[in-house]
Amino acid sequence: MLTGKRILLIIGGGIAAYKSLDLIRRLRDEGAGVTPVLTRAAEEFVTPLSASALAAEKVYRDLFDLTDEAEMGHIELSRAADLVVVAPATADLMAKMAGGHANDLASTLLMATDKRVLIAPAMNVRMWEHAATRRNLATLQGDGVRVVGPNEGDMACGEFGPGRMAEVPEIVAGVRAALGEGPLKGKHVLVTSGPTHEPIDPVRYIANRSSGAQGAALAAALRDLGARVSFITGPASVASPAGVAVAQVETAREMEAAVQAALPADVAVFAAAVADWRVENAAGEKMKKDAGGAPDLSFAENPDILAGVAQMTAGRPELVVGFAAETTDVITHAEAKRARKGCDWIVANDVSPETGIMGGAENAVHLVTADGVEDWPRMGKDEVARRLAARIAEALGAG
Ligand code: CTP
Repeated sequence: MLTGKRILLIIGGGIAAYKSLDLIRRLRDEGAGVTPVLTRAAEEFVTPLSASALAAEKVYRDLFDLTDEAEMGHIELSRAADLVVVAPATADLMAKMAGGHANDLASTLLMATDKRVLIAPAMNVRMWEHAATRRNLATLQGDGVRVVGPNEGDMACGEFGPGRMAEVPEIVAGVRAALGEGPLKGKHVLVTSGPTHEPIDPVRYIANRSSGAQGAALAAALRDLGARVSFITGPASVASPAGVAVAQVETAREMEAAVQAALPADVAVFAAAVADWRVENAAGEKMKKDAGGAPDLSFAENPDILAGVAQMTAGRPELVVGFAAETTDVITHAEAKRARKGCDWIVANDVSPETGIMGGAENAVHLVTADGVEDWPRMGKDEVARRLAARIAEALGAG
């Protein structure tokens, strides 16, 4: 529920604006108060009267409306809410936000607010895929703006692809998440992610093919269920999600120290592909090949971070989840790994090169628990993350 929460809803000018009227109803059903703001273009699609009738509140439209300024200035309006939602967020509104423009009421409110912002983009597929929109999206995400959708499907313009605004229940779920109102509210979840780099000398290192995509998606999904997330990541090729506490590390030993520093936690998920070995005799200066012959590297075993936490005698997280990346006998190895490391669950996947999973966008996992093995169909890493986060909430009795 969103009882007592105030939402400032900026409605942009797109055909999806009609869904925003339903959004007002659904948010009010959850107990939230909604103050609608319509851009000029939005008024071509929905009327201020319908927005204000559904919200049972005044609709704000014009920056230079002096009556409004006398009643409530735009600064105050931008801050009176608990959350600012932009739906539909058109390509133009996203560009204005990314560029820091403030030339109408909507963009000025977005510049003046000190509250979280959630956008639900909606536009033609070509516009969504345009380099300028990609750039603006990355900028906004980097600024901490939350994004829900867009979805893929038939569009009002007759084309097919991503660009359709998220459905109203998805936006309501995004609002709940942005306000930290999900089933994992009050829970602290630790997630490790990405590869580790183990130096050979100051310029060379041993690494692996992990992109960090699954760990990042998982941290975002847990955050969206209201958890406080500590995200400990090696040098990944995907960006860390907004709204989580990030610790950037390089080596396995640094990752272990960051995990220890982040404890205690209610749940710990180890999605990182940690190097099992480090070079014990790493050189302080760059190795030169004229020194003669191949370098004589000796290896030392890295600490097993997951096993260390799973086998804690005091203060162990209630739920410890490991991943198993295998290329043969996936289930057998995963079951053995679960027993050996002492964790509660293992998320096992086949990372043979032909699966395209490591470094790719999809994953096909098996969830190994004390109750047996569940085979999940191949799906996007985001979807795996959402399912796993929901299972974690369920296991904690919070689902
Ligand atoms: N892991 C860890 N610390 C390590 C090695 C692995 O925390 N030093 C964690 C990983 O994050 C993952 C799980 O252990 O959750 C399994 O990792 P994996 O590399 O598949 O297993 P290993 O223990 O390295 O076993 P093997 O290499 O024999 O398959």
